This record gives sequence, C-alpha cells and structure tokens, in this order.
Amino acid sequence: MSGVQQPAAVVAEGVDMDFGTGAAMAVKDAGFALGRGRFLTILGPSGSGKTTLLRMIAGFQTPTRGQILIGGKPADAVAPHRRSVGMVFQKLALFPHMTVAQNVAFPLKMRRFNPAEIAGRVERYLELVRLGGFGARRIHELSGGQQQRVAIARALVFEPELLLLDEPLAALDRKLREEMQLEFRRIQKELGVTTINVTHDQREALVVSDEIIVMDQGQIQQHAAPAEMYRRPANPFVAHFIGVSSFLKGRRSAAGIEVNGIDCAGQAVADLAPGVACLGAIRAEQIRIAPAGAPLPGCDTVVQGQVTDIVFEGERLLCFVTLPALAAEVQIYHHDPAGLDQLAKGASVSVGWTAGDLLIFAADKG
Ligand SMILES: Nc1ncnc2c1ncn2[C@@H]1O[C@H](COP(=O)(O)OP(=O)(O)OP(=O)(O)O)[C@@H](O)[C@H]1O
Ligand SMILES: [Mg+2]
Repeated sequence: MSGVQQPAAVVAEGVDMDFGTGAAMAVKDAGFALGRGRFLTILGPSGSGKTTLLRMIAGFQTPTRGQILIGGKPADAVAPHRRSVGMVFQKLALFPHMTVAQNVAFPLKMRRFNPAEIAGRVERYLELVRLGGFGARRIHELSGGQQQRVAIARALVFEPELLLLDEPLAALDRKLREEMQLEFRRIQKELGVTTINVTHDQREALVVSDEIIVMDQGQIQQHAAPAEMYRRPANPFVAHFIGVSSFLKGRRSAAGIEVNGIDCAGQAVADLAPGVACLGAIRAEQIRIAPAGAPLPGCDTVVQGQVTDIVFEGERLLCFVTLPALAAEVQIYHHDPAGLDQLAKGASVSVGWTAGDLLIFAADKG
C-alpha cells in the first residue's frame, strides 16, 4: 500500500502493552508499517487501545513486548525534546498567558532555531492554518476552532517528520469538526507530513485518511484504505463499526446463508464449509425497500417485512424493518423524497438485496 521502495516512516512489530493491572492487555500484538507522507487514522471504540498505541509511537511509553521504529530508530531512542514529532491532543495545552504567536514560537525556541527566523516562520504557519494576522491575540480571545488551529500550527511549525493527533477535534461541534477535518486534510497534503490521527469518529476516519487501522480490545482488526475498509470489512466487528450494518444469523448454504430455512443470496468473505454457523452483514444503503408487492428488479433475495420505525435524517430516511421470516430486524436508508408518504410506521414492505452486497463471515469472529 505504501510503495515498496520507500522506507516506512513508522513500523510497529508485535507490540504489546500490558499495564500489569491484571486486566486484559491494552494493546496486543500490534503490527503495521506506514509509508512517508501518509495519513493514517487509528479508529476504535473507547478503551480499545488507541491512545496507548499512539503514546508508544510518541515514545512516551515503552512496549512490554515488540518494538516501534520511527525512521528506522526505536521510538524512545531519542530524547523527547529532540524527537521530530509534533503532537496535538484532545486537551490542547496551549499556554493561556502567551499570545498566539508566542505559543507557535515556543517549539522553535525549545529547539534553538535562529531567532531572526522565528517571527517569519510563525507567521507562515499561522497563515497555513488560516490565522494570518492573529499573532498578537491571547488564547482566550479565540474561538474553539481557532484555538485548535493554533495547536496545529504549534505542532507543525518546526517541520516534524511525524505528526500525532489524539482526538484533537472531539470537543468541537459537528459542523466545525467537519470543517476542521477538511482543513487537516488540506494542511497534511500541503506539507506532506506523515500523520497518525486517533479518533472514534468513523466519518472523520473515512474523510481524512489514506489508511485506516480499526482496533478493538487492544487488537488491530483491519488495516486498509478507507474505501476498501468500507467495502470489504475483514470481520463483523469492522462491518458493525464502520457504516450502518444489519446482521443475519444462519448457516453457510449454496446461495449464501440459510436463515430460518430460507436461502439468502450472499457472498462469503472467506472459505466457509457448507453448514457452518455464519453471520451475514449488509449495509443500510444496500438494501432496497418498496411498498409490499411492488417489484424490486435486480435483487437476488426479496423478503417481506414491516416498518417498525422511521427516522427522518433530512437527506434520507432511516427505516427499521422487521423481517419475520428471517427472525431479523434490518436498518435501511431510503433516499426517495416521497418515502415518508409511502413508508409509514407499520407499513408492509418488500425488501431486497443483491448477492454481492450481503457479506458472509464465520460466526465466531468479532
Ligand atoms: N496508565 C494506565 N494504566 C493502566 N491501564 C491503562 C492505562 N492507560 C490506559 N489503560 C487501559 O488500557 C485500555 C486502553 O486504553 P486507551 O486509553 O488506549 O483507550 P482508547 O482507545 O484511547 O480509548 P478512548 O477512546 O476512550 O480515549 C483501557 O482498558 C484503559 O483502561
Ligand atoms: Mg484515547
């Protein structure tokens, strides 16, 4: 994925972190390589080990097993203030008593940059984050999003080899967060700095990243490009965590998966012997829905259901539909503006899908 000839910027090999609390390991057997200039997002639920992995990459914590290499050297081999790593954390830790420009200049002073160069460089990075002319302001005179951008400028101003971000946008409201995600993307592309971003926001991961790692319970579940992760989740956990998926429980059959005696069309992601217990996963936007009896052309499986709830989301409807024959409930996105009239709560409907859209996994994973 990262180009064969390029040396990796960050490599993790068999990394464990056992805090010795008797609880499960915070990170277990983590391994990946990240190419120079790439933007990686580590995505996972709360407690899955994201921050712990990032702190080991930053060299704040030493793995209890395995190793992490930054530019070919162990992450903790270089003294912290000499590491070429910029960081932005959820709590911004800007210096409130300093001006914006003094905050951004701080890492340059720490690294003994030529004083004659500092003011120009600070202004350049403030312009990069669209805060040109804000240098004399105090931190408390800025909005949350502006403070966020000061933190980014401060992390980048010394031109680190690696930028580490631990949920820096989590505190912002949704609209600002989405704007800042695009800003991150722009700045990262402009500078080409290798970046590792931690989030539990799947949309952010899909929007900003070249690559995504999904973690659960300390273990890497999948490492893939966003579109690949979305289309080809490696297991039910990933299918559940990214996008809105519904699940069918059954056994491997000729057409795909047999659920309650009904053979449903689907596509197995791995070799599964006939009859083994498995799970079918299908995304909300890949199920078609129509009033009962209306045709669903092109679908390989069509079953009857009843709408139990409808959520109006503006540009689309999210329909909850029970399928008594399959003893299942599915969630379906419907984009037809007339949908609200046709698909009232309690309505009888036909739902269907094509074989390629129902992914079949072994039932024991995730
Ligand atoms: N210093 C520590 N000592 C003991 N256990 C810890 C320590 N730091 C983290 N843990 C445990 O390790 C696990 C992973 O924690 P971590 O902070 O990496 O999760 P996270 O994925 O960043 O979660 P969140 O999304 O909530 O920030 C958790 O079970 C946590 O309780
Ligand atoms: Mg965390």
